[in-house]
Amino acid sequence: MSKKIRLLAKLMRSGEFSRSAEAEEAVRKGRVTVDGKPATNPQHSVKANATVSINDRPIEPVAFTYVILDKQKGMVCQKTDKERNVYEVISSIEEIDPKTRASLFCVGRLDRDTEGLLIITNDGQLEKLLTKGKRIIKIYAVVTDASVTDDDVAALLKGVQVTDDDTGKAFFVKAVAIKRLGEKQIEIGIDEGRKRQIKKMLEALGNHVVSLRRVGIGKMRIESLNFDGKRYLIARKQDLKF
Ligand code: URA
Repeated sequence: MSKKIRLLAKLMRSGEFSRSAEAEEAVRKGRVTVDGKPATNPQHSVKANATVSINDRPIEPVAFTYVILDKQKGMVCQKTDKERNVYEVISSIEEIDPKTRASLFCVGRLDRDTEGLLIITNDGQLEKLLTKGKRIIKIYAVVTDASVTDDDVAALLKGVQVTDDDTGKAFFVKAVAIKRLGEKQIEIGIDEGRKRQIKKMLEALGNHVVSLRRVGIGKMRIESLNFDGKRYLIARKQDLKF
């Protein structure tokens, strides 16, 4: 059986669009064909080797690309013209051609005021592995407003109740590892990636995050990477071990 891929993913891998809404619109407007037939739904699966064309011009996938960023505070992970964002860093990387740049997206977002490890790629399989696959632990160095007590550590490991910003629903989240670095400083590992998860976990204990830095994703630790004086590095897939 030949492999299948979502049409939207195939369109985005071509670098012809920088936002998925643009690709969806192209399908809606009848500009996209799959093996010569008009596409109707960008979410449909197509054969991985199908010929997909935009305005009758066949598209080709750009090369898989992996950028590891040491994200600075003050940047958002969304593709937006309104705020400083991580794609500005991507635009400054001359080794990456414009089509490949357009195809890149963040694997799991960090908040505007969070810094540290962020993977930006066009490899949907890697995204699946890190966000939906086996539970890969993300480690955050956290500085808090108030002291973190032993009871707090125990509560974080047991699980605390937080509320989803979008749905208002309550759910439990827990730390899978905690290392104490100081009275108001801990390293905390989580294997989920809910929105504002670390901040919410500390807020559930009546504390507050003062600064947050992602220092690890699985086996990858930020201090072991050689950024060579830059904020980013371009990695090879074989070097990415989680
Ligand atoms: N948890 C948060 O609260 N914020 C992030 O950016 C990442 C994890």
